[in-house]
Parts: sequence; structure tokens; C-alpha cells
Amino acid sequence: MKKLIAGNWKMNGSLSANAALVQALLDDTSDWACDVAVCVPPVYLAQVQSLVQGSVLGLGAQDLSTQEAGAFTGEVSAAMLKDFGVRYCIVGHSERRQYHQESDATVALKAQRALAAGITPIVCVGETLAQREAGLTEEVVKRQLAAVVHTNGHCISEIVLAYEPVWAIGTGKTASPQEAQQVHHVLRSQLQAASQHADRVRILYGGSMNASNAAALLAQPDIDGGLIGGAALQAAAFLSIVAAAH
Ligand code: PGA
Repeated sequence: MKKLIAGNWKMNGSLSANAALVQALLDDTSDWACDVAVCVPPVYLAQVQSLVQGSVLGLGAQDLSTQEAGAFTGEVSAAMLKDFGVRYCIVGHSERRQYHQESDATVALKAQRALAAGITPIVCVGETLAQREAGLTEEVVKRQLAAVVHTNGHCISEIVLAYEPVWAIGTGKTASPQEAQQVHHVLRSQLQAASQHADRVRILYGGSMNASNAAALLAQPDIDGGLIGGAALQAAAFLSIVAAAH
């Protein structure tokens, strides 16, 4: 399966920094063996859409509304994202779950909105450090994925899933390739039980993936790509991860 490396810029960037970063990525596309995307803040979608137009670099967003349209101040709908050529949208990132109280049901609904608009949701699941230490990792990620399966039925084969242990995000601590593979395997089995097309679902690893640990993580049988935060803000680091994905 073709791997996917997706950058999550989070709340970073500026018109000038984005232009320089995207140009540096576009200068390198000839050797890419995987799919590559950047998930940018919504105010920069138009800018990055015009920069990546006609290239193999895909455009992504970081969140979308559970609502279709109407009186929801500050929200951005799936249809609006589609209007700007968005191909992927992160949903249920742990920072949304933590700081914006997004429940499993909310995340599942957002995935459904994205799919209905023809956008591939990158659904994030992952345990906190306390949950891992209490031996609850598998229970937590299975519960988070179950909500998305329940709401989306057979469409589950159209999502991208991302396993992001919360304790590894932005901390410099990465799950070992074996630890990550173990959880990815659990998620794969759960997807297989839900859909006969589950083998086409890409399961990304996220959490301090960088130029030096990417190859070992990406070599695991159920790790089909990466969701990259910090390292996605530097072209050289991001491109080394892309080069490790084949
Ligand atoms: P990180 O972030 O690579 O900076 O750990 C990953 C993410 O939050 O998607």
C-alpha cells in the first residue's frame, strides 16, 4: 500500500513562511514514492491551495464542523473545505479532544461530515500517559475507533487512521517501533472486523516522528505512514521522513 506522510502544521505559519516551506517541498517532489500532504490552518487554505495546484502535494485541513451550515460562529464546514481543494482533514486530534472537549461521538460525526463531502478524514486515536501506565492503551484506542466505525459503517474503509500516543506528541518521546506496531495491529484487526476492505485503510503513526526514527517506524507491517507535527515545519526534516516512506 502506498504510504502517506501528512504534515500537521498546527497553529503555526505566516504567508511568507508558508510560501518558503511549500516551495522547498515542491522542489523535491520528483523522488517521492509516497503520498504527501500538508494540513494547514484554515486561513491559509487559499494560499496553500494556489501554491500546490497541479502538483502532487496534497492539501489538508486540521478540523471541521459537525454542522452542515448555518448559525455556528467561527466554524468551518466540510463543504467550505472542499471549495478550497482540501483532500484530507484531521479529525479528533488529541489537542481538540483535550482543549475543546471533543467526545468520541463528536469525532465520529466530523469524520462522517468529511466523508460525505468527499474529503478523507485522518481520524486520530491515542492514549494518555496515565492510561498507558494503567494498562488501558488498547481499551482506549478501541473505544475511540469503535465510535467512528459505529457512525460510519462500511465507509470506514475510506478513512485514514492515525495512532498518536498523547505522551509522544511534541515531547520528543516516541513509541518504539514495536510498541507502535502492537497498537497498529490491534487497530487493523478492529477495522478488519468492521469492513472487508479494511486492508486498504492507511494507519499512520504520529508523535515525535522525525528524520532519525521514521525509517524504523515505517518499516513495521501495520504502519502505513506518519502524521508529523514539529518536524513538518522544517522542509529538510519533513523531506527526510518523506524519503524514508517507500
Ligand atoms: P509531533 O506532533 O510530531 O510534534 O509530536 C504530531 C501531531 O500532533 O500530529
